[in-house]
Amino acid sequence: ALVSAKEMLQKARKEGYGVAQININNLEWIKSALSVAQELNSPIILGVSEGAGKYMGGYKNVMGMVSNLIEFYNITVPVAVHLDHGSYEGAYKALAAGFTSIMFDGSHYPIEENVEKTREIVAACHAKGVSVEAEVGSIGGEEDGVVGAGEIADPQECALIASLGVDLFAAGIGNIHGKYPANWKGLDFEALEAVKEVTNGIPLVLHGGTGIPADMIKKAISLGVAKINVNTECQWAFQQATREYILAGKDLEGKGFDPRKLLAPGAKAIENVVREKLTLFGSVNKA
Ligand code: G3H
Ligand code: ZN
Repeated sequence: ALVSAKEMLQKARKEGYGVAQININNLEWIKSALSVAQELNSPIILGVSEGAGKYMGGYKNVMGMVSNLIEFYNITVPVAVHLDHGSYEGAYKALAAGFTSIMFDGSHYPIEENVEKTREIVAACHAKGVSVEAEVGSIGGEEDGVVGAGEIADPQECALIASLGVDLFAAGIGNIHGKYPANWKGLDFEALEAVKEVTNGIPLVLHGGTGIPADMIKKAISLGVAKINVNTECQWAFQQATREYILAGKDLEGKGFDPRKLLAPGAKAIENVVREKLTLFGSVNKA
């Protein structure tokens, strides 16, 4: 069932587990994520970056694919379709297309402008029952053209944005998009605690979920994180499985060139990542 992210994340925050945001890229990604969520009786959030939205033929096509697949495969667990790192214009486009959750990433604006734009988007989204994620500070690295300096969130700015009625709150706490460098210092838990103090129990979001060790994930959940975003890890798993298939020459055996066969190992590899994340985050049987 298609739902906003609000209730599923409030429940997660209250009961002390995390819901995975799995970023999607195409049909295989959507099918893999939905099938594992259903298999494990877990809620799930499908993340759509602006770049991935364009790649899939626009937000309306994304909504068409997801809602038709939910019906076709009889997916009964809660599913939210969430705009990831949305721009001001992108937020309105995704809202018009029927997304059930929107991230407006105003973290690169001066704080006053982030406040004004976030306030406006909260009003527009809430009028349609759509949840809103805001961001303060920034996530290091790059994702689909969204580049961040990795600034630690300022608690005063967090308090300001949290007071606008946002439903989920992302803060820069030393997390980075993509693979973590060997010399990464880990998550800044003092910063996370400070964010938690000033955000009135709003479910917190941990971006850059790829490669964060299990103990740090668990600790982050204990400090108020209720949504963890994973993108690169699925892409990497897909790539490795596809590479193995081709290097083993399977694409040249019989009908191995058929895209339904060629893409199957990659899709299975995504399923394995999703299964591992839902289990680690603790959302199994929480649908
Ligand atoms: O917004 C999406 C994420 O923060 C994903 O980050 O590619 O490092 O898993 P990741
Ligand atoms: Zn992110």
